[in-house]
Amino acid sequence: MKYFILFGPPGAGKGTQATAMVENYHLCHLSTGELLRSEIAAGTQLGLQAKALIEAGSLVPDEVVEGMIESKFKTVKGVEGFLLDGFPRTIAQAQALDEMLGRSGEEVTSVVSIMIPDEMIMERIRHRATIEGRADDAKEEVVANRIRTYHDKTEPLVDFYRKAGKYNEIDGVGTIEEVRERIFTLMNKF
Ligand code: AP5
Ligand code: MG
Repeated sequence: MKYFILFGPPGAGKGTQATAMVENYHLCHLSTGELLRSEIAAGTQLGLQAKALIEAGSLVPDEVVEGMIESKFKTVKGVEGFLLDGFPRTIAQAQALDEMLGRSGEEVTSVVSIMIPDEMIMERIRHRATIEGRADDAKEEVVANRIRTYHDKTEPLVDFYRKAGKYNEIDGVGTIEEVRERIFTLMNKF
């Protein structure tokens, strides 16, 4: 099985690019953000716990997302691998992922990191707010907190995966098609 990590700041284009990636490489798309938003929509206990944190632009506890990912690894069948979008997001989550995969003799295949400058994050999220109505896109201060959280907690993963020889960066500036081509060129190597 292949385990790709789709990495990048908020609004980088992870969700946008994921659709073509999973289709082309027969992967299961696992977005922890989307999984959490469906828990909220379904009014589950987990959703209730996560709601306030997400709407403040903060991370939910590591154990919550680790549990969601592990249960999907166990239940999803008939794919050639997984595309992890928005997970891991802390060093602790990355270590938990390594342990989870290690138990079945698997490992992370590669990290595909989509990078865009902070100013462009704001621009893209402002645009998406008018289309999708995500609660965490509505307020500038919440988006600012998501960007801060990314730099503080998630960016250290760049070094973590660079040291493991798994980090690959893609320029996320350009049209959706241009970025997709760059991603496919990279993924064809694995
Ligand atoms: P999550 O849903 O993962 O949000 P995020 O990381 O902030 O990323 P986004 O979904 O905002 O951005 P994206 O990269 O998918 O961009 P998109 O393709 O939509 O997480 C939400 C929250 O859940 C977190 O804040 C946290 O609270 C919680 N959470 C999730 N995972 C967690 C974890 N592992 N641990 C703890 N907490 C967790 O693109 C954005 C916009 O730009 C779209 O409108 C799109 O059309 C447009 N666009 C895309 N590409 C281009 C392009 N090339 N040119 C022009 N426009 C483009
Ligand atoms: Mg997304």
